Amino acid sequence: MNVISDIEQIRAQVKQWRGKQNTIALVPTMGHLHAGHLSLITLAQSRTQRVIVTIFINPLQFNDAEDLAHYPRSLTADLKQLQKLNVDVVFTPQETDIYPYGIEQCPRIHIPKLSEEFCGRYRPGHFAGVCTIVAKLFNIVTPDIAVFGKKDYQQLLLIKRMAQELNYTVEIIAGDTIREPDGLALSSRNIHLSQKHRAVAPKLYQTLQEISQDFAFDRLDQLEASSQQALSQFGFKCEYLAIRDAKDLSPIKKNTKMFVVLTAAWLGSTRLIDNLLFPQS
Ligand code: PAF
Repeated sequence: MNVISDIEQIRAQVKQWRGKQNTIALVPTMGHLHAGHLSLITLAQSRTQRVIVTIFINPLQFNDAEDLAHYPRSLTADLKQLQKLNVDVVFTPQETDIYPYGIEQCPRIHIPKLSEEFCGRYRPGHFAGVCTIVAKLFNIVTPDIAVFGKKDYQQLLLIKRMAQELNYTVEIIAGDTIREPDGLALSSRNIHLSQKHRAVAPKLYQTLQEISQDFAFDRLDQLEASSQQALSQFGFKCEYLAIRDAKDLSPIKKNTKMFVVLTAAWLGSTRLIDNLLFPQS
């Protein structure tokens, strides 16, 4: 496994693989890897001959300096895990190479509407930061496929939209959410949960499951409101909980085929997001 920080070196590696007609997958991460990331990497390995994993804590997507300062960092442990998985290359770029004029002067990719609701409403600028770094990584690595988790469902849709709108030829592949045995979705932020909050956290996914079981068109608003109320009784501070069309997060219609219920809620100082897809029955 090669660890490369230099952009020109990554380009040279990609060129060499291309010369051998190797296909290449990109798995972008911000490190502190857990089984969810590893499953995305395994998925990538099943699809292409070469896999590049990036580890870069992208300052442009943090709208809160505290959040950036507390984001968990564990490069040595991450590299050990990636070595075990036999990843070809880990790309760990320098912030000054990614943002040569600093983050204030960096052009941003803003996708109107879809990036402004749900998480975008509560984290202004976050998705522009995500789309911008992902576009930069696409331009540097020029992968055949790129793999993202369904856990960040709005992010996944935005990256698909960006790839389409900006005419990237990269295929975006979605990996399933990996959960703890009690249902809590794996996230690098889970380490910040206190013992008390960790015990309550699985209620978030349980609530989504109950919605998918109780769903009825004529009770949509009521179901959203009562679920938010239930979450607040468990101790969550809910930012949003909504049932939408899984295709594009638009309000559901009678002919919607696949629904997604998505939520973001705080437990103490930890922000959790989760979602569940379910078909029209
Ligand atoms: O999902 C993440 O970890 C990040 O948003 C991503 C896609 C690696 C971009 O920094």
